[in-house]
Amino acid sequence: MAKKLKIESLPDLKEAARRNLKEATVFSKEDIVIPSRLKMLAQGKKYFVRTYGCQANVVDSENIEGILLEIGYTKVDDPLDADIVILNTCAVRENAEDKVFGEVGALKRLKNENPDALIAISGCMTQEPHIVEMIKKKYPQVDICFGTHNINRLPQLILRSIEQHIRIIEVFSKEGEVIEHIPTHREDRIKAFVNIMYGCNKFCTYCIVPYTRGKERSRKMEDILDECKKLVEEGYMEITLLGQNVNAYGQDLNLGYDFADLLEEVAKLGIPRLRFTTSHPWNFTDDMFKAIAKYPNIMPYIHLPLQSGSDEILRKMGRRYTQAEYLDLVRRLREIIPNVALSTDIIVGFPNESDEDFEETLKVVRQANYDSAFTFIYSPREGTPAAKMEDKISMDTKHERFNRLIKELTPSFEANAQKYVGKIVPVLVEGASKKDEGMLTGYSDTNKLINFKGDPKHVGKIVNVKITESHTFSLLGEEVDE
Ligand code: SAH
Ligand code: SF4
Ligand code: F3S
Repeated sequence: MAKKLKIESLPDLKEAARRNLKEATVFSKEDIVIPSRLKMLAQGKKYFVRTYGCQANVVDSENIEGILLEIGYTKVDDPLDADIVILNTCAVRENAEDKVFGEVGALKRLKNENPDALIAISGCMTQEPHIVEMIKKKYPQVDICFGTHNINRLPQLILRSIEQHIRIIEVFSKEGEVIEHIPTHREDRIKAFVNIMYGCNKFCTYCIVPYTRGKERSRKMEDILDECKKLVEEGYMEITLLGQNVNAYGQDLNLGYDFADLLEEVAKLGIPRLRFTTSHPWNFTDDMFKAIAKYPNIMPYIHLPLQSGSDEILRKMGRRYTQAEYLDLVRRLREIIPNVALSTDIIVGFPNESDEDFEETLKVVRQANYDSAFTFIYSPREGTPAAKMEDKISMDTKHERFNRLIKELTPSFEANAQKYVGKIVPVLVEGASKKDEGMLTGYSDTNKLINFKGDPKHVGKIVNVKITESHTFSLLGEEVDE
């Protein structure tokens, strides 16, 4: 018998776009309650979680797994062996969404083999009204839809779906809470990610994230420090502080501290490596650069999205800086942190981007001397202002520009990698290399991927590696004693 659909609440983009900056954030510290009936039902049952998208989703999935483990599910590596499959989705570009629907289609097999199995979708896609409509109508195999603001309610949703034999949709678009104390399950014992803030208030005109993640809410510094302290005690070697705009940290709290202060305080806890992402060019201050330069355990690596080099396109994107301001920022940060490595995000093919606009992007690329970059073809996102803009540029032109952009980026990647040859660099050893089991792999302080011959006993340690060869995206080397 087909399950009935129960709609608790649906996403609403207008609600999601609303920002009441005067309304104070509610900090919730209640432990989540797991009904004992659910614990009984979950006995001997297995879960599988697939994560799409950015690090924010990786951390959300760690929370989802933490909750599932607390309920009593155990983890499996094959979705077809699971009693509950959760797809934690990303909405940032169309191809991310296509992948999810491909997987939802393939999961029909799970239902054929195990009709009681549950399929749940969470994350940024479920925050989009048109996606939820599609799931409702075209994907009856999906039992539970929840969003980015109610992960803590997962136990109740699972219990109701099982007991009442219903499909259930509960997605909130109004947030305002920072929920501490959600259980978490970190698979990695070496590197950990820590949210310092949620949401985004920037509303770049192409971007869906402010709608799917809500208002910018910083966690209190003491809560972040508590979490980081525990990680240091557990022996973690690296912490990455996460947020859509980490350098806007604290602005919503009005407690007299900002991202520079937070960096210093976390660095002082003695974590061997401290990283952060993503920074917005508009929110950087020299104090932040100075904090990075001052502490040897804050890694000299900054991801600084450019998006476009054209002032006209930057204005239409709502990025709040000009080409000259971006380049000046790069100059200042290189002055204050001389050994810094720089990476970026670039979008080609924003609506009506002209050849001249694109040339301006290449101009910045030639001057910024990037170590690496993520490049994207603009993907219209329903509900964003850019999706309504007229666009006369053909897909062929966008692809040509995309290829040209990569060609123009490669020389600085290669030249920057080449500089390492013959040098000895500190590498945090992560494990065996994916390509060659006999080799180890890890990252330098500047976030360069390094494959090297070394002692497998040193996994989880920082070792010195002498670089022997450079490639565009990685370095080769040998562990040395010095
Ligand atoms: N908050 C971060 C990252 C957000 S999403 C920041 O501001 O940098 C990661 C990257 O995806 C963005 O930097 C942007 O380059 C890209 N992106 C976002 N929306 C996009 C869209 N509609 N089409 C193509 N790329 C997009
Ligand atoms: Fe999206 Fe811009 Fe916010 Fe980054 S800063 S998440 S690109 S709206
Ligand atoms: Fe994707 Fe949501 Fe992150 S849209 S990039 S998972 S914030």
